[in-house]
Amino acid sequence: MRGLAIIGMDWCLRRLSSQTARVAQRHATDRLDDRPQPEKHHHQTIIGKVRIMRGLAYFCIVSAAGYALAGMGFGIVMAASHDHTLSTAHAHLNLLGWVSMAIYGLYYHAVPSAADTRFARVHVAVATLGIWIMIPGVAMAVLGMTEGLAILGSLLTILGMLLFAARVATARQAIA
Ligand code: HEM
Ligand code: HEM
Repeated sequence: MRGLAIIGMDWCLRRLSSQTARVAQRHATDRLDDRPQPEKHHHQTIIGKVRIMRGLAYFCIVSAAGYALAGMGFGIVMAASHDHTLSTAHAHLNLLGWVSMAIYGLYYHAVPSAADTRFARVHVAVATLGIWIMIPGVAMAVLGMTEGLAILGSLLTILGMLLFAARVATARQAIA
């Protein structure tokens, strides 16, 4: 039993020391390598490189968080007032604004070469316009005012998804 414990401890110590050696070696190379880094959007940390979110991906995620705040605020007002008439507008603000936009952002973060294109910017612009037109449009349709905006907004939204599908299908770079 004691023998086993000693073998176990020895194994743990070996792993720890080899890990420490690897970290120390990386630090030593970092200090020696003072050439400019080719990827200026990478940050060196103790556990490796972290790519800073930028450009289109950043825009998508920040706006998704904004839509989430608006959608949740909307939900709380609805719940507090016990009036769920506009729950479809609330639902789609969260589903298109928060969920879909966040997925676009994460994709563009994972595949930067797909994000750095005019096609991707057009996709995000169309998707954004779709949300801004469709959500008030759905509310107006539910309230019996007009269906025009809901129709226009949903066509833009599906066009946005079509552009995204085309972007994903034609970007040959693997994720990561
Ligand atoms: C603070 C956060 C939230 C609050 C207080 C909230 C509140 C509500 C309320 C009161 C309703 C109406 C329920 C009914 O009439 O039966 C509702 C519906 C809905 N919410 Fe939220 N919500 C929140 C966040 C979200 C999020 C983040 C999503 C999606 C990602 C979401 C998706 C939906 C959907 C899909 C419905 C429609 C459900 C149905 O009609 O069956 N909600 N929410
Ligand atoms: C062009 C885009 C879209 C259009 C035109 C659309 C349209 C609709 C319509 C007409 C309803 C029925 C609403 C009612 O009975 O009051 C509905 C419900 C629903 N949709 Fe969508 N939708 C779209 C996108 C999405 C997406 C992207 C999601 C999820 C990620 C989603 C999730 C839901 C859910 C969970 C419901 C049931 C909750 C509710 O009744 O509000 N929809 N949608």
